[in-house]
Amino acid sequence: MTILITGANGQVGRELQAISAEFPTLKLIPVDRSMLDISDPEAIAHFCDTTEFDVCINCAAYTAVDKAEQEKELAYAINAEAPGHLAAACLDKGAQLIHYSSDYVYHNQENRPLQETDATTPRGVYAQSKLEGDLKVLAAHPGALVFRTSWVYSSFGHNFVKTMLRLGAERDSLRVVVDQIGSPTYARDIARMTLELIHSGQAAQYSGIFNYSNEGVCSWYDFAQAIFELSGVKCKVEAIPSTEYPTPAARPHYSVLDKGKYKAAFGIDIPYWKESLRDCLELLGY
Ligand SMILES: NC(=O)c1ccc[n+]([C@@H]2O[C@H](COP(=O)([O-])OP(=O)(O)OC[C@H]3O[C@@H](n4cnc5c(N)ncnc54)[C@H](OP(=O)(O)O)[C@@H]3O)[C@@H](O)[C@H]2O)c1
Repeated sequence: MTILITGANGQVGRELQAISAEFPTLKLIPVDRSMLDISDPEAIAHFCDTTEFDVCINCAAYTAVDKAEQEKELAYAINAEAPGHLAAACLDKGAQLIHYSSDYVYHNQENRPLQETDATTPRGVYAQSKLEGDLKVLAAHPGALVFRTSWVYSSFGHNFVKTMLRLGAERDSLRVVVDQIGSPTYARDIARMTLELIHSGQAAQYSGIFNYSNEGVCSWYDFAQAIFELSGVKCKVEAIPSTEYPTPAARPHYSVLDKGKYKAAFGIDIPYWKESLRDCLELLGY
């Protein structure tokens, strides 16, 4: 089976390539932005017309949450319009589309794990553009799968784990917000579950939205503490409220994803966030 990976240089895109040897029957075609710019509908149509693949995993996204407030048009082109064009092109050629989305699309006032059927009241350009992308994907391709995930990190790319390690080596203490609660998710786990679902044939049997994150719940403060504990980097973490760390785009206070639908459908174990963090830190040499 042949799998097209768009946005192949991102965290999830690179993890898919890093673990692909675990799935020898799957042949990956990784394409980065220079090979396929998904904001160009004609490029998508031409690429899909001239390349054979059975599944497209769309890892391309505009993920600069705060910068998106200044680059609304670009964020919408990449996160909202492009997934819809990809979905239509995949449907045309009889290919499956697997797309990723964000916990930020919910942003409701609930203080309990969020379900796929919950209200979506995204705040800010990034979150709104991601929600629109989900809707366009599902409207264009009834067989598409959308995984909403949260707090993604990896040994590749830029993310909270690598920022904490860098700052922790430079400073004696850091101030980190304690009143935003969620679940860190290792991009390698997202990649592995995606390839497992394709390999087992389950991806072809299901469609629609599924929440996916690592197991367990923490604040950014807890996450930072765990990064320093497990890495051995000596840095004190001070808990601060979000009001002391204002950002251009609002963040949800509680965005833990309920994974009941995923578990009932697929029955694949989900790793605990600290175990996955340990694996990532090991890869980073800690
Ligand atoms: N990161 C998180 O914390 C997080 C949380 C929840 C959900 N998600 C979702 O999870 C998915 C994967 O995220 P990630 O963390 O792997 O993202 P990432 O590391 O930021 O990677 C995104 C990739 O998309 C590429 N890209 C951007 N615009 C493109 C375009 N026009 N055409 C082709 N490629 C383009 C980027 O290329 P360049 O390197 O050239 O910019 C980058 O390689 C995304 O859908 C994201 O919204 C992420």
